[in-house]
Amino acid sequence: MNYRRLGRSGLLVSELSFGSWVTYGNQMDTRAARECMAAAWDAGVNFFDNAEIYARGESERIMGVVLKDVGWPRSRVVVSTKFYWGLGDGPNEKNTLNRKYLLQAIDGSLSRLSLDYVDLVFCHRPDPNTPIEETVWAMHDMIASGRALYWGTSEWSASDIRAAWEIAERHHLHKPVMEQPQYNLFHRKRVEREYAPLYADLGLGLTTWSPLASGLLTGKYRNGIPAGSRGTLENYAFLRERLTDPTRNNVVGELASVAGDLGCTLAQLALAWCLKNPNVSTVITGASRPQQVQENMRAVEIAAKLDATLIQRIDASVGSSYD
Ligand SMILES: NC(=O)c1ccc[n+]([C@@H]2O[C@H](COP(=O)([O-])OP(=O)(O)OC[C@H]3O[C@@H](n4cnc5c(N)ncnc54)[C@H](OP(=O)(O)O)[C@@H]3O)[C@@H](O)[C@H]2O)c1
Repeated sequence: MNYRRLGRSGLLVSELSFGSWVTYGNQMDTRAARECMAAAWDAGVNFFDNAEIYARGESERIMGVVLKDVGWPRSRVVVSTKFYWGLGDGPNEKNTLNRKYLLQAIDGSLSRLSLDYVDLVFCHRPDPNTPIEETVWAMHDMIASGRALYWGTSEWSASDIRAAWEIAERHHLHKPVMEQPQYNLFHRKRVEREYAPLYADLGLGLTTWSPLASGLLTGKYRNGIPAGSRGTLENYAFLRERLTDPTRNNVVGELASVAGDLGCTLAQLALAWCLKNPNVSTVITGASRPQQVQENMRAVEIAAKLDATLIQRIDASVGSSYD
C-alpha cells in the first residue's frame, strides 16, 4: 500500500480505502463487515469511510462494533462520516447543513461509532437553503470542539468549494480540506475539468467514490444482472439502468483485452486507472465480500504497471462514453 497526503493537509491516507455504502446493514452484518475491514486493514488500508445516512445509522453502528472488536490503535485509523440528509423528519433534521443540525448530528454519529472523534467529516451534499458562511462556521466549531479533525464537502460545485474556502480564509477558520466526488472511467468531468483549478489554488484533496461504477466496471453486468449482486437489490433499483447500459457494457468488454494483457481483472484495471490520477488522495473501494477486497487491493500493483500506452488504449475504448 502507498499512502498519499490528503490534499495539502499533512494527513496520510492509504491510496485505496474502504467504505460502507449499500453494503453495511443491507448485504453485510457485523461479522461480514469485520471480515472485509480486516482484509482491507491487512492490505494496508487505514481509511474507513462512512456516513450518517448509510443504512440510517446502522452502518455507523456496525463500524463502531468492528473497530472496538479489532482493537486497532486509534492513532492508525482514519474514520469519516458525512451529514446532510439526516435521520429525523423535523424541519431542522433533514436535507440541511444548518448549524443546529450539524452540531447535533456529529454527537449522534460519535455515539453510534463509539468514538470520541472522527478524522474526516463531510458536508454530504450542498444545501442551497443555508448560507455557506453558516455551514463553514459550524464545521469550524465542530473541529475546534475536537469532535472532528478535518472537514470537507461531497459533490459540491467548484464555485461553492472555493466560496467556503475563501470565507474560512477571511475569518481564520478551519478550511475545507477535501472533496468526495464520484470518479471512475464513466464519470470523470467534475474531477478532471470542473475541479482542475482547485488542486493548486486551494490544495484540495479528493476521496473518490464508486470507482467500479457500482460494479459495472467489473464486467459482471455484461450478460444481465447476476445473482447476489448490487443490481438485484430492490432498495437500489435506481442503479439498474446504468448497470445494464449496453454501450457501457460493450466498452467494458473492450477493456477486458487490456486487463488480459496486464494479467489482471477488470476490477483491478478500473481501480488502477483511478489511482493514476495524482489529484486523487484515496480511492474509496466497496465490497460485499472479503474475496472482492483481496482482489481489489492488488490494484496497487497494477497501477505501477499501467503506462501511458495502456492508458491510451483505455481512453480509446471508453471514447466519449463518460459523464
Ligand atoms: N459521498 C458520496 O456521495 C458517496 C456515494 C457513494 C459511495 N460513497 C463511498 O464510496 C464507497 C465506494 O462506493 P461503491 O461501493 O459504489 O464502490 P464501487 O467500487 O463502485 O462498487 C462496489 C461494489 O461493486 C461490487 N464489487 C466490488 N469489487 C468487486 C469485484 N472484485 N468483483 C465483483 N464485484 C465487485 C460489489 O457489489 P456486489 O458484490 O453487491 O455486486 C461492491 O459492493 C462507498 O462505500 C462509500 O463509502 C460515497
